[in-house]
Amino acid sequence: MSEPISYYENSEEIEKKIWSLLTTAVKDRSSEFRTPVFICGDDQDLDGRVVVLRKADQQNNFIQYHSDIRSSKIEKIKKNPKCSILFYGKEEKIQLRVKAECEVNYKNDITKESWEKTGHISRKCYLVTSGPGTKSDKPTSGLDNKFENFDFTKEESEAGYKNFCVIKCKIQSIEWLYLAAKGHRRALIDLNGSKNFTWLVP
Ligand SMILES: Cc1cc2nc3c(=O)[nH]c(=O)nc-3n(C[C@H](O)[C@H](O)[C@H](O)COP(=O)(O)O)c2cc1C
Repeated sequence: MSEPISYYENSEEIEKKIWSLLTTAVKDRSSEFRTPVFICGDDQDLDGRVVVLRKADQQNNFIQYHSDIRSSKIEKIKKNPKCSILFYGKEEKIQLRVKAECEVNYKNDITKESWEKTGHISRKCYLVTSGPGTKSDKPTSGLDNKFENFDFTKEESEAGYKNFCVIKCKIQSIEWLYLAAKGHRRALIDLNGSKNFTWLVP
């Protein structure tokens, strides 16, 4: 007999499990929940991309990731802050579909705090000369040789701050799906106003 799973049919345990997955993913590089797909856009042009989860705050119901302010998704988010963030953990057999409202943070206290925590090497992403998605007539990393070869000091990496932003995603709902041989389970946690938990047919 396999171990009974506490979060199989218990709403409180499900919520606990979800936040445990999200907060662990921020610290644990090998977590399957560390790299969700972030989807945004409008009714004409929706697009998804993988991002790295950098913060998960259960008390205030938000998650955060970092990006380059020059990415075309930034304008899209500003026009339409509604987004979807999709997670799947094969080991956990859990899918999370998060709906959120995004806020672009740029050169403020939130970005300062995150930038300080961003290591010298990870700052390389923000040192590309032209913004992500810029056309190039040859294959390129977008980096000057100096940065390409990691030949830069922490001080020089500060130049990346002008391109750095933090996308804060205020969670409105989380849809949880758990795959189990004895029967899948699915539920919706609505966080708009007073919290509401609803079971759904998987
Ligand atoms: C494992 C992985 C992690 C990534 N993490 C991020 C991230 O945290 N933030 C980000 O903006 N892009 C990240 N990217 C790159 C995006 O998926 C995407 O290629 C890039 O943001 C450019 O597309 P966009 O401007 O439409 O977002 C990551 C890609 C991969 C494969």
